[in-house]
Amino acid sequence: MDLRAFIHLLSKESLLRRVDREVDWRFELGEMARTNQTPLLFERIKDYPGQRLFTNGMINLEAIGLALGLAREARRRAIVKEAGRRAAVPIKPRLVETGPVLANVVPGSEIDFFKLPIPQWSSREAGRYLGTWHINVTRDPETGSRNVGVYRMEVKGPNQATVCTSPNSHLGRHMAKAEKAGRPLEMAVAIGTSEAVVMAAAAGCPFGADEFDLAGSLQQEPVQLIKCGTVKLEVPADSEIVIEGVIKPGVRVQDGPYFDYAGAPDTSPAFLFEATRLMFRTHPIFRGTAIGLPGAEDQQILSVLSALGLFDFHGSWHKRLIQTPLIHYRFFRAFQFAGRIKGRSLFRRKKEGA
Ligand SMILES: Cc1cc2nc3c(=O)[nH]c(=O)nc-3n(C[C@H](O)[C@H](O)[C@H](O)COP(=O)(O)O)c2cc1C
Repeated sequence: MDLRAFIHLLSKESLLRRVDREVDWRFELGEMARTNQTPLLFERIKDYPGQRLFTNGMINLEAIGLALGLAREARRRAIVKEAGRRAAVPIKPRLVETGPVLANVVPGSEIDFFKLPIPQWSSREAGRYLGTWHINVTRDPETGSRNVGVYRMEVKGPNQATVCTSPNSHLGRHMAKAEKAGRPLEMAVAIGTSEAVVMAAAAGCPFGADEFDLAGSLQQEPVQLIKCGTVKLEVPADSEIVIEGVIKPGVRVQDGPYFDYAGAPDTSPAFLFEATRLMFRTHPIFRGTAIGLPGAEDQQILSVLSALGLFDFHGSWHKRLIQTPLIHYRFFRAFQFAGRIKGRSLFRRKKEGA
Protein backbone atom coordinates (compact mmCIF):
# COMPACT_ATOMS: atom_id res chain seq x y z
CA MET A 1 0.00 0.00 0.00
CA ASP A 2 1.73 3.20 -1.13
CA LEU A 3 1.02 6.52 0.56
CA ARG A 4 -1.77 7.41 -1.89
CA ALA A 5 -3.56 4.11 -1.32
CA PHE A 6 -3.26 4.66 2.44
CA ILE A 7 -4.72 8.16 2.20
CA HIS A 8 -7.55 6.74 0.11
CA LEU A 9 -8.18 4.04 2.71
CA LEU A 10 -8.24 6.59 5.54
CA SER A 11 -10.72 8.63 3.53
CA LYS A 12 -12.93 5.58 2.91
CA GLU A 13 -12.90 4.84 6.63
CA SER A 14 -13.83 8.49 7.36
CA LEU A 15 -10.57 8.94 9.28
CA LEU A 16 -9.11 11.59 6.97
CA ARG A 17 -9.74 15.30 7.25
CA ARG A 18 -9.26 17.15 3.97
CA VAL A 19 -8.35 20.82 4.32
CA ASP A 20 -9.39 22.53 1.09
CA ARG A 21 -9.08 26.14 2.23
CA GLU A 22 -5.75 27.88 1.70
CA VAL A 23 -3.31 27.23 4.53
CA ASP A 24 0.02 28.97 5.09
CA TRP A 25 3.04 26.63 5.12
CA ARG A 26 4.61 29.05 7.57
CA PHE A 27 3.36 28.21 11.10
CA GLU A 28 -0.36 27.78 10.26
CA LEU A 29 -0.05 24.28 8.82
CA GLY A 30 2.04 23.07 11.76
CA GLU A 31 -0.36 24.63 14.24
CA MET A 32 -3.28 22.83 12.59
CA ALA A 33 -1.38 19.54 12.61
CA ARG A 34 -0.75 19.90 16.34
CA THR A 35 -4.27 20.94 17.29
CA ASN A 36 -6.11 18.43 15.05
CA GLN A 37 -4.83 15.06 16.19
CA THR A 38 -6.19 13.30 13.12
CA PRO A 39 -4.81 12.41 9.66
CA LEU A 40 -4.84 15.59 7.57
CA LEU A 41 -4.50 16.19 3.84
CA PHE A 42 -3.79 19.83 2.99
CA GLU A 43 -5.02 20.45 -0.55
CA ARG A 44 -4.29 24.19 -0.92
CA ILE A 45 -1.00 25.46 0.39
CA LYS A 46 -0.15 29.15 0.15
CA ASP A 47 2.43 29.86 -2.59
CA TYR A 48 2.26 26.24 -3.84
CA PRO A 49 -0.74 25.83 -6.13
CA GLY A 50 -1.40 22.20 -7.09
CA GLN A 51 0.77 20.73 -4.34
CA ARG A 52 -0.50 18.81 -1.32
CA LEU A 53 0.80 17.78 2.08
CA PHE A 54 -0.21 14.83 4.25
CA THR A 55 0.43 14.62 7.98
CA ASN A 56 -0.62 12.74 11.15
CA GLY A 57 -0.95 9.50 9.18
CA MET A 58 0.07 7.38 12.20
CA ILE A 59 -1.47 9.56 14.90
CA ASN A 60 -3.55 6.80 16.50
CA LEU A 61 -3.85 3.02 16.72
CA GLU A 62 -6.70 2.89 14.21
CA ALA A 63 -4.50 4.48 11.56
CA ILE A 64 -1.48 2.34 12.48
CA GLY A 65 -3.60 -0.80 12.19
CA LEU A 66 -4.88 0.28 8.77
CA ALA A 67 -1.37 1.12 7.57
CA LEU A 68 -0.35 -2.43 8.42
CA GLY A 69 -3.36 -3.84 6.57
CA LEU A 70 -5.25 -4.76 9.77
CA ALA A 71 -8.84 -3.98 10.68
CA ARG A 72 -9.40 -0.49 12.01
CA GLU A 73 -10.83 -2.01 15.21
CA ALA A 74 -7.54 -3.84 15.93
CA ARG A 75 -6.45 -3.07 19.47
CA ARG A 76 -2.90 -2.31 20.52
CA ARG A 77 -2.28 -5.82 21.79
CA ALA A 78 -3.40 -7.32 18.45
CA ILE A 79 -1.31 -4.83 16.45
CA VAL A 80 1.80 -5.57 18.51
CA LYS A 81 1.25 -9.34 18.33
CA GLU A 82 0.78 -9.30 14.56
CA ALA A 83 3.67 -6.88 13.95
CA GLY A 84 5.91 -9.09 16.11
CA ARG A 85 4.88 -12.21 14.21
CA ARG A 86 5.63 -10.48 10.91
CA ALA A 87 8.92 -8.94 12.03
CA ALA A 88 10.26 -12.40 12.88
CA VAL A 89 10.36 -13.29 9.16
CA PRO A 90 12.21 -10.62 7.11
CA ILE A 91 11.00 -10.04 3.55
CA LYS A 92 13.77 -8.83 1.27
CA PRO A 93 13.17 -5.84 -1.03
CA ARG A 94 12.78 -6.38 -4.77
CA LEU A 95 14.68 -4.35 -7.36
CA VAL A 96 12.41 -3.08 -10.15
CA GLU A 97 13.21 -1.23 -13.36
CA THR A 98 10.83 1.69 -13.03
CA GLY A 99 8.32 3.37 -10.75
CA PRO A 100 6.04 6.40 -10.46
CA VAL A 101 8.68 8.53 -8.75
CA LEU A 102 10.67 8.58 -12.00
CA ALA A 103 7.90 10.64 -13.66
CA ASN A 104 9.76 13.91 -13.03
CA VAL A 105 13.54 14.16 -12.77
CA VAL A 106 15.35 17.40 -11.87
CA PRO A 107 19.15 17.57 -12.36
CA GLY A 108 21.31 18.84 -9.51
CA SER A 109 21.93 22.27 -11.05
CA GLU A 110 18.17 22.98 -11.17
CA ILE A 111 17.17 21.75 -7.71
CA ASP A 112 15.37 24.29 -5.57
CA PHE A 113 13.92 22.94 -2.31
CA PHE A 114 11.86 26.13 -2.04
CA LYS A 115 9.68 24.82 -4.87
CA LEU A 116 8.38 22.19 -2.44
CA PRO A 117 5.73 23.12 0.16
CA ILE A 118 8.11 22.48 3.05
CA PRO A 119 6.50 23.82 6.23
CA GLN A 120 7.97 25.89 8.96
CA TRP A 121 6.17 23.82 11.55
CA SER A 122 6.45 26.30 14.40
CA SER A 123 7.35 29.96 14.93
CA ARG A 124 9.69 28.77 17.67
CA GLU A 125 11.77 26.76 15.21
CA ALA A 126 14.72 27.98 13.18
CA GLY A 127 13.48 27.16 9.73
CA ARG A 128 11.78 24.84 7.30
CA TYR A 129 12.16 21.09 7.77
CA LEU A 130 12.49 19.01 4.63
CA GLY A 131 12.82 15.82 6.61
CA THR A 132 10.50 15.08 9.51
CA TRP A 133 8.71 11.92 8.29
CA HIS A 134 10.93 10.43 5.61
CA ILE A 135 13.80 7.98 5.23
CA ASN A 136 17.56 8.46 4.86
CA VAL A 137 19.28 5.67 2.92
CA THR A 138 23.06 5.19 3.11
CA ARG A 139 25.60 2.41 2.67
CA ASP A 140 28.44 1.44 4.97
CA PRO A 141 31.53 2.64 3.06
CA GLU A 142 33.50 -0.40 4.27
CA THR A 143 31.05 -3.31 4.19
CA GLY A 144 28.50 -2.01 1.68
CA SER A 145 25.58 -2.89 4.00
CA ARG A 146 22.57 -0.61 3.72
CA ASN A 147 20.99 1.50 6.46
CA VAL A 148 17.60 3.14 6.42
CA GLY A 149 16.85 5.61 9.22
CA VAL A 150 14.84 8.73 10.07
CA TYR A 151 17.08 11.72 10.83
CA ARG A 152 15.64 15.22 10.68
CA MET A 153 16.70 17.65 7.96
CA GLU A 154 16.48 21.44 8.01
CA VAL A 155 16.67 23.35 4.73
CA LYS A 156 19.84 25.45 4.51
CA GLY A 157 19.68 26.52 0.87
CA PRO A 158 18.09 25.61 -2.48
CA ASN A 159 19.98 22.29 -2.57
CA GLN A 160 21.36 22.00 0.96
CA ALA A 161 19.95 20.63 4.21
CA THR A 162 21.17 19.41 7.57
CA VAL A 163 21.20 15.77 8.64
CA CYS A 164 20.86 15.73 12.40
CA THR A 165 21.87 12.62 14.27
CA SER A 166 24.25 11.29 16.91
CA PRO A 167 27.56 9.66 16.01
CA ASN A 168 26.19 6.45 17.54
CA SER A 169 23.33 6.14 15.05
CA HIS A 170 23.95 3.90 12.08
CA LEU A 171 24.17 6.85 9.72
CA GLY A 172 26.58 8.49 12.19
CA ARG A 173 28.74 5.38 12.01
CA HIS A 174 28.64 5.31 8.20
CA MET A 175 29.66 8.96 8.16
CA ALA A 176 32.57 8.36 10.55
CA LYS A 177 33.92 5.73 8.16
CA ALA A 178 33.48 8.04 5.15
CA GLU A 179 35.22 10.90 6.95
CA LYS A 180 38.08 8.63 7.98
CA ALA A 181 38.60 7.91 4.29
CA GLY A 182 38.19 11.64 3.52
CA ARG A 183 35.24 10.95 1.23
CA PRO A 184 31.64 12.22 1.04
CA LEU A 185 28.86 9.80 2.02
CA GLU A 186 26.18 9.19 -0.59
CA MET A 187 22.65 9.50 0.75
CA ALA A 188 19.15 9.24 -0.71
CA VAL A 189 16.14 10.78 0.99
CA ALA A 190 12.66 9.46 0.23
CA ILE A 191 9.59 11.42 1.29
CA GLY A 192 6.09 9.97 1.07
CA THR A 193 6.90 6.26 1.17
CA SER A 194 4.54 3.66 2.57
CA GLU A 195 4.07 4.16 6.31
CA ALA A 196 5.55 0.70 7.01
CA VAL A 197 8.82 1.87 5.44
CA VAL A 198 9.07 4.88 7.79
CA MET A 199 8.14 2.70 10.74
CA ALA A 200 10.92 0.23 9.88
CA ALA A 201 13.39 3.10 9.38
CA ALA A 202 12.60 4.39 12.88
CA ALA A 203 13.27 0.94 14.34
CA GLY A 204 16.41 0.21 16.31
CA CYS A 205 17.65 -2.74 14.24
CA PRO A 206 21.14 -4.20 14.78
CA PHE A 207 23.96 -2.38 12.98
CA GLY A 208 24.35 -3.89 9.50
CA ALA A 209 20.70 -5.00 9.23
CA ASP A 210 18.69 -3.66 6.29
CA GLU A 211 15.51 -1.95 7.50
CA PHE A 212 13.90 -2.56 4.08
CA ASP A 213 13.73 -6.25 5.13
CA LEU A 214 11.76 -5.24 8.22
CA ALA A 215 9.55 -2.91 6.17
CA GLY A 216 8.75 -5.77 3.80
CA SER A 217 7.77 -8.00 6.68
CA LEU A 218 5.67 -5.29 8.36
CA GLN A 219 3.72 -4.66 5.15
CA GLN A 220 3.83 -8.34 4.12
CA GLU A 221 5.09 -7.39 0.70
CA PRO A 222 8.63 -6.76 -0.58
CA VAL A 223 9.51 -3.07 -0.79
CA GLN A 224 10.00 -2.36 -4.49
CA LEU A 225 13.20 -0.43 -5.03
CA ILE A 226 14.58 1.45 -8.00
CA LYS A 227 18.19 2.45 -8.50
CA CYS A 228 19.10 6.10 -8.02
CA GLY A 229 20.75 7.95 -10.90
CA THR A 230 23.59 9.89 -9.27
CA VAL A 231 24.37 7.74 -6.21
CA LYS A 232 24.79 3.97 -5.76
CA LEU A 233 21.68 3.58 -3.64
CA GLU A 234 18.12 2.34 -4.03
CA VAL A 235 14.84 3.93 -2.95
CA PRO A 236 11.18 2.84 -2.88
CA ALA A 237 9.79 3.14 -6.40
CA ASP A 238 6.46 4.51 -5.15
CA SER A 239 7.95 7.35 -3.06
CA GLU A 240 6.35 10.73 -3.63
CA ILE A 241 9.69 12.57 -3.67
CA VAL A 242 13.29 11.36 -3.76
CA ILE A 243 16.39 13.49 -3.27
CA GLU A 244 19.80 12.05 -4.05
CA GLY A 245 22.99 13.63 -2.84
CA VAL A 246 26.06 13.51 -0.64
CA ILE A 247 26.93 14.41 2.94
CA LYS A 248 30.08 16.51 2.93
CA PRO A 249 33.01 15.20 4.96
CA GLY A 250 34.42 17.41 7.70
CA VAL A 251 31.55 19.90 7.58
CA ARG A 252 29.21 20.67 10.50
CA VAL A 253 26.39 23.19 10.57
CA GLN A 254 23.87 24.14 13.20
CA ASP A 255 20.46 22.47 13.13
CA GLY A 256 17.57 24.06 15.00
CA PRO A 257 16.26 25.20 17.39
CA TYR A 258 13.77 22.42 16.64
CA PHE A 259 11.10 21.03 18.96
CA ASP A 260 12.01 17.37 18.95
CA TYR A 261 10.16 14.40 20.44
CA ALA A 262 10.84 15.67 23.98
CA GLY A 263 8.89 18.87 23.32
CA ALA A 264 11.90 21.06 24.04
CA PRO A 265 13.98 23.20 21.68
CA ASP A 266 16.98 21.25 20.48
CA THR A 267 19.98 22.79 18.78
CA SER A 268 22.60 20.36 17.55
CA PRO A 269 25.62 20.31 15.28
CA ALA A 270 24.60 18.45 12.14
CA PHE A 271 26.01 17.10 8.89
CA LEU A 272 25.49 19.02 5.66
CA PHE A 273 23.75 17.30 2.74
CA GLU A 274 23.94 18.57 -0.84
CA ALA A 275 21.47 17.33 -3.43
CA THR A 276 22.57 15.96 -6.81
CA ARG A 277 19.21 14.91 -8.26
CA LEU A 278 15.52 15.16 -7.39
CA MET A 279 12.64 12.99 -8.58
CA PHE A 280 8.96 13.25 -7.87
CA ARG A 281 5.63 11.73 -8.76
CA THR A 282 3.28 13.85 -10.78
CA HIS A 283 1.29 16.06 -8.36
CA PRO A 284 3.45 14.95 -5.44
CA ILE A 285 2.11 14.71 -1.91
CA PHE A 286 4.63 16.06 0.59
CA ARG A 287 4.73 14.06 3.85
CA GLY A 288 5.83 15.62 7.10
CA THR A 289 4.94 15.83 10.74
CA ALA A 290 4.76 18.26 13.64
CA ILE A 291 6.16 16.45 16.65
CA GLY A 292 6.84 17.64 20.19
CA LEU A 293 3.42 17.07 21.76
CA PRO A 294 2.72 14.02 23.91
CA GLY A 295 1.20 11.27 21.75
CA ALA A 296 2.40 12.77 18.44
CA GLU A 297 2.77 10.28 15.61
CA ASP A 298 6.48 9.65 16.20
CA GLN A 299 5.66 8.46 19.73
CA GLN A 300 2.79 6.33 18.44
CA ILE A 301 5.03 4.26 16.19
CA LEU A 302 7.90 4.23 18.69
CA SER A 303 5.50 2.77 21.24
CA VAL A 304 4.68 -0.16 18.95
CA LEU A 305 8.36 -0.59 18.05
CA SER A 306 9.37 -0.62 21.72
CA ALA A 307 6.93 -3.47 22.32
CA LEU A 308 8.84 -5.38 19.62
CA GLY A 309 12.18 -4.63 21.29
CA LEU A 310 13.03 -2.23 18.45
CA PHE A 311 13.37 1.09 20.24
CA ASP A 312 16.83 2.68 20.21
CA PHE A 313 17.69 6.37 20.14
CA HIS A 314 21.40 5.54 20.38
CA GLY A 315 21.71 7.56 23.57
CA SER A 316 23.12 6.45 26.90
CA TRP A 317 22.04 3.04 28.26
CA HIS A 318 20.53 4.55 31.42
CA LYS A 319 18.36 6.94 29.44
CA ARG A 320 17.22 4.05 27.28
CA LEU A 321 16.46 2.01 30.40
CA ILE A 322 14.16 4.76 31.66
CA GLN A 323 12.56 5.64 28.35
CA THR A 324 11.84 2.17 26.98
CA PRO A 325 9.10 1.19 29.47
CA LEU A 326 7.64 4.71 29.37
CA ILE A 327 7.17 4.67 25.61
CA HIS A 328 6.12 1.01 25.65
CA TYR A 329 3.25 1.70 28.08
CA ARG A 330 2.36 4.97 26.36
CA PHE A 331 3.31 7.29 29.22
CA PHE A 332 4.05 9.92 26.61
CA ARG A 333 4.48 12.90 28.92
CA ALA A 334 6.84 11.00 31.18
CA PHE A 335 8.73 9.77 28.10
CA GLN A 336 9.19 13.38 27.01
CA PHE A 337 10.18 14.45 30.48
CA ALA A 338 12.85 11.72 30.60
CA GLY A 339 14.06 12.94 27.22
CA ARG A 340 14.58 16.39 28.70
CA ILE A 341 16.67 15.26 31.66
CA LYS A 342 19.35 17.88 32.23
CA GLY A 343 18.02 19.71 29.19
CA ARG A 344 19.79 17.36 26.82
CA SER A 345 18.38 15.69 23.77
CA LEU A 346 18.88 12.06 22.91
CA PHE A 347 19.89 13.19 19.48
CA ARG A 348 22.73 15.29 20.83
CA ARG A 349 26.32 14.32 20.32
CA LYS A 350 27.80 11.90 22.81
CA LYS A 351 30.38 14.34 24.09
CA GLU A 352 27.53 16.63 25.10
CA GLY A 353 26.16 13.91 27.32
CA ALA A 354 23.56 12.00 25.29
C1 LIG B 1 9.57 11.12 13.26
C2 LIG B 1 10.91 10.69 13.77
C3 LIG B 1 11.97 11.58 13.77
C4 LIG B 1 13.23 11.21 14.21
N1 LIG B 1 14.25 12.11 14.15
C5 LIG B 1 15.50 11.73 14.49
C6 LIG B 1 16.58 12.62 14.33
O1 LIG B 1 16.42 13.77 13.91
N2 LIG B 1 17.82 12.17 14.65
C7 LIG B 1 18.06 10.91 15.11
O2 LIG B 1 19.21 10.54 15.37
N3 LIG B 1 17.03 10.05 15.30
C8 LIG B 1 15.77 10.42 15.00
N4 LIG B 1 14.72 9.54 15.15
C9 LIG B 1 14.99 8.23 15.76
C10 LIG B 1 15.70 7.30 14.81
O3 LIG B 1 14.96 7.16 13.61
C11 LIG B 1 15.91 5.94 15.47
O4 LIG B 1 16.84 6.13 16.52
C12 LIG B 1 16.40 4.88 14.51
O5 LIG B 1 16.68 3.70 15.24
C13 LIG B 1 17.64 5.34 13.78
O6 LIG B 1 18.05 4.37 12.83
P1 LIG B 1 19.41 3.55 13.05
O7 LIG B 1 19.19 2.71 14.29
O8 LIG B 1 19.50 2.75 11.80
O9 LIG B 1 20.49 4.55 13.23
C14 LIG B 1 13.45 9.90 14.72
C15 LIG B 1 12.38 8.99 14.74
C16 LIG B 1 11.13 9.37 14.27
C17 LIG B 1 10.01 8.37 14.28
